[in-house]
Amino acid sequence: MKGIILAGGLGTRLYPLTHSISKQLLPVYDKPVIYYPLSTLMLAGIRDILVISTPRDLPMIESLLGDGGRFGLRISYRKQDAPRGISEAFIIGEDFIGGDSVCLILGDNFFYGHDLTGLLKRHGDLKKGAVVCAYHVNDPSQYGIVEVDARRRPVRIVEKPKATKSSWAVTGLYFYDNKVVGIAKSLKPSARGELEITEVNNRYLTAGELSVEYLGRGFSWLDTGSPEALITAAQFVQTIEKRQGLKIACIEEIAFKMDYINEGQFGQLAEKYGNSDYGRYLRHVLEYGTEDV
Ligand code: DAU
Repeated sequence: MKGIILAGGLGTRLYPLTHSISKQLLPVYDKPVIYYPLSTLMLAGIRDILVISTPRDLPMIESLLGDGGRFGLRISYRKQDAPRGISEAFIIGEDFIGGDSVCLILGDNFFYGHDLTGLLKRHGDLKKGAVVCAYHVNDPSQYGIVEVDARRRPVRIVEKPKATKSSWAVTGLYFYDNKVVGIAKSLKPSARGELEITEVNNRYLTAGELSVEYLGRGFSWLDTGSPEALITAAQFVQTIEKRQGLKIACIEEIAFKMDYINEGQFGQLAEKYGNSDYGRYLRHVLEYGTEDV
């Protein structure tokens, strides 16, 4: 399975923060925003990753992550000239996807929770159909919402409904088989001028090929698209990291633990971060390992 991080958009809700820097490079506590979705793909076992962003932001993101080799990944980059919709990712990424299935994650989405890794691994080898992850929210009008029947089977997905009985939002983490490329190419722009991801999901639903993974109360799904959301996510990460002494979305540690890189390569990464807390953490992991489960 291939992975795509969609990290474009203008970030206007974050102005002036994003006037001259990509929102994916802003900090969530001790690391850039993009580390969080990247770590999610890595935990799903995905090592071939395409980052899509604006012509302005792509070089900055590339200077942070490079070709991914030092994390045992293959990262490539493509431009999206204008935010023409989330589904455009599959058109821009057509060559990259080739004949594979694909996992798409939005660059400002943050997932955390018990057995997230298990969930990701389960869908990381999807061969047929599509899986979306749904999360209970208190403001359904802001999201794509899954409307369900009495047995919580999906009936339809509605983008930003003015009124709905459902509180199950579709999160920015999607798994698709290879048909998604053809579906994306057949879409017409919506009233707001975008190739809607909700339309793609409804096509799978109508074909009886959409599964919904409900993320329970034990999960956290946050975004980083506004100043308040950024600080909320940062406080969340700080609280957990301080209490546990374990880092969230530490891509270097994940690369090491998933055997994407060996001890020598991990040691080089740890050295590179010098005397920062982050560097000290990596050197501690190198020396003592971690005992998390
Ligand atoms: O966060 C989950 C929600 O994401 C879903 O529940 C909705 O169904 C889905 O449509 C989307 O909602 P928004 O329309 O609010 O997403 P937004 O326009 O904020 O874009 C999400 C991220 O994707 C954002 O970081 C910018 C990036 N993006 C968006 C578009 C439309 C791109 O890189 N290119 C684009 O063309």
